[in-house]
Amino acid sequence: MIFLVLFLFESSNGSNNLILQSCKEASKSDPNLSYDFCVDSLNDASNKTKPPSNPEDLVGMSIQLTKSNGTNMLPIIKELLKNLTSDDQYVKACLQDCFDLYKDSLSSLEDAAVAFKSKDLYSANINLSASLDDSITCEDQFKDKTGKTSPLTWENHVYFQLNVMCLSFVQMLNQH
Ligand SMILES: *[C@@H]1O[C@H](CO)[C@@H](O)[C@H](O)[C@H]1NC(C)=O
Ligand SMILES: *[C@@H]1O[C@H](CO)[C@@H](O)[C@H](O)[C@H]1NC(C)=O
Ligand SMILES: *[C@@H]1O[C@H](CO)[C@@H](O)[C@H](O)[C@H]1NC(C)=O
Ligand SMILES: *[C@@H]1O[C@H](CO)[C@@H](O)[C@H](O)[C@H]1NC(C)=O
Ligand SMILES: *[C@@H]1O[C@H](CO)[C@@H](O)[C@H](O)[C@H]1NC(C)=O
Repeated sequence: MIFLVLFLFESSNGSNNLILQSCKEASKSDPNLSYDFCVDSLNDASNKTKPPSNPEDLVGMSIQLTKSNGTNMLPIIKELLKNLTSDDQYVKACLQDCFDLYKDSLSSLEDAAVAFKSKDLYSANINLSASLDDSITCEDQFKDKTGKTSPLTWENHVYFQLNVMCLSFVQMLNQH
């Protein structure tokens, strides 16, 4: 009974339904995106701002959410660099690359947001793909040398999924 009531409540709630449906479709088309992660991140964001009322709103909100997550990464990487105790040049070089990669990724997201607003889905797609690539490269470079572990594995994975989510949503809009 409680489940039925919850279900009816959620179905009658347009923005919630939009988030659930979009996350379902996106996580089906890309197994790298967890459905729960997608729903939780978007619910959290729509609680903080305004619930999306249509798929275009949802894309805009997703890109903003990804941008704010990436922006918050910059001071974290700076602090990790400052905190390095051993003079580990390899980890230091990787972290410096990560800082630049996040900055590049953020300018791609900025361009993606502008392109999307002007309904240029083609450019938005290119910019989001570039951002997604950057989100993968930071983590991967730590694996190039055995014995080195990334201090950013969890954060990079979150950021990667946010990027997958944005790109999937734009591609879904393109197909519909
Ligand atoms: C999942 O991510 C990996 C790289 O991390 C990529 O090679 C693969 O194509 C992705 N899968 C899909 C379905 O996008
Ligand atoms: C969003 O707010 C609703 C009710 O206002 C709450 O039930 C839900 O847990 C919140 N979601 C997140 C992810 O904070
Ligand atoms: C990025 O998003 C995740 C999931 O919402 C959150 O837990 C994490 O704190 C965020 N990271 C930053 C640096 O804002
Ligand atoms: C850096 O070191 C300080 C002091 O030990 C610690 O409180 C902080 O959490 C560390 N920052 C990071 C990003 O690891
Ligand atoms: C975004 O895509 C457009 C169109 O392909 C391109 O001109 C622009 O340089 C891209 N922006 C970034 C930051 O790569």
